[in-house]
Amino acid sequence: MTSERVAVGIVGAGPAGLLLSHLLHLAGIDSIVLENRTREDVEGTIRAGVLEQGTVDLLTETGVGERLHREAFFHRGVYLRFAGTTRHIDMQELTGGKRVTVYAQHEVIKDLIAVRLAAGGDIRFGIPDVALEGIDSQRPALRFSGGGVARRIECDFIAGCDGSHGVCRHSLPRGTLQRFDRVYPFGWFGVSVEAPPSSDELIYATHERGFALVSTRSPTLQRMYLQCDPNDDVANWPDDRIWSEFRARLETHDGWAPIEGPITQKLIVGMRSLVHEPMRHGRLFLAGDAAHIVPPTGAKGLNLAVADVRLLARALDAFYRSKDESRLARYSDDCLRRIWKGQRFSWWLTTLLHRSESDTPFDRRRQLAELDYITSSRAAMTSFAENYVGLPFE
Ligand code: FAD
Ligand code: DHB
Repeated sequence: MTSERVAVGIVGAGPAGLLLSHLLHLAGIDSIVLENRTREDVEGTIRAGVLEQGTVDLLTETGVGERLHREAFFHRGVYLRFAGTTRHIDMQELTGGKRVTVYAQHEVIKDLIAVRLAAGGDIRFGIPDVALEGIDSQRPALRFSGGGVARRIECDFIAGCDGSHGVCRHSLPRGTLQRFDRVYPFGWFGVSVEAPPSSDELIYATHERGFALVSTRSPTLQRMYLQCDPNDDVANWPDDRIWSEFRARLETHDGWAPIEGPITQKLIVGMRSLVHEPMRHGRLFLAGDAAHIVPPTGAKGLNLAVADVRLLARALDAFYRSKDESRLARYSDDCLRRIWKGQRFSWWLTTLLHRSESDTPFDRRRQLAELDYITSSRAAMTSFAENYVGLPFE
């Protein structure tokens, strides 16, 4: 058995774990990140694409924004498309300058890994068997094996940043967490397409046949999503079926159609809203998807993870600087206030734009009336915009 010691042991090298490690380093606090996948897998997994203004500002202020500012798309707002018409929400104007930034999650991850490794950071990939011990004690530890040897890292604190299927949340004694959730009867069919952008800004569309989203990744790679049955199989979706569905759902009165090209990736994701409370047990702190999940509509998942670790890093900084435990004590409540607003927004936008089999003609008329309202009332548009670009951190 080899034994080591570190201030903060972090499980998971997703956006939450990597950013936490980076913020702690800037505060002079050492950490070790244990990740079960390989670096190639972590850097190659395609997920979210939209960053809130606060996320961009934090990355920029902490020295991880250089490539983002060169390569990201900065949009004034988004388009909402319904009943064959398209309405623009100018979020930049409505929120006093906040923009929509399109920059893929795996690019953020590459930037964070690069900055951590350049600073001598300790990230260990390919560790499949992390286990937690002593989370009720003052000296919790992470156990795992590596190179055929049993290893143990003693920590002051453990940060559970290991996503929705991680080990940390499941290490808590039974009955310590309260769970709040909702599963939606639909999923997203996501595709990557080799083509130029079809639109200068994102298009969120609702149609009798269901939701569709036009997003982007680069001048030559686009990302698009269709509402689908969450239990469907990508094998049932040859390219021509995908394109005919996109053409139908994105159709406008003036004949707009998406630019088509080779489809290089297809995946189906289920949709759920889920919160576990509280986000702390003893010296274990949960952050990001390990504690909460949102449906993807509105792109809040990654941004909520960033907001959590920002608070956690500040709370740990206060502890190490002045033995002030008050921020650590408030961590869960402080996070949850904003998380529930993100949950509300993601649920609202999801139910506004998707079609459900249980919907009645009344429900459809109500959806269309609400879309008309939020694209014509300045007050309603402002509410949509301030949530989309991100509510203030505190
Ligand atoms: P994760 O990114 O899940 O990172 C957790 C890390 O922990 C992973 O690298 C994982 O390998 C590692 N890990 C897990 N278990 C262990 C273990 N036992 N030991 C060590 N390491 C472990 N959000 C949006 O806003 N818009 C989107 O379009 C969108 N699309 C998504 C598509 C998919 C397929 C998924 C799954 C999520 C999507 N999300 C989206 C959500 C968003 O990607 C997440 O909210 C975000 O990744 C949360 O970051 P995180 O660091 O908390 O967790
Ligand atoms: C993307 C994902 C989202 O969930 C969203 O609301 C907008 C864009 C994307 O992957 O580009």
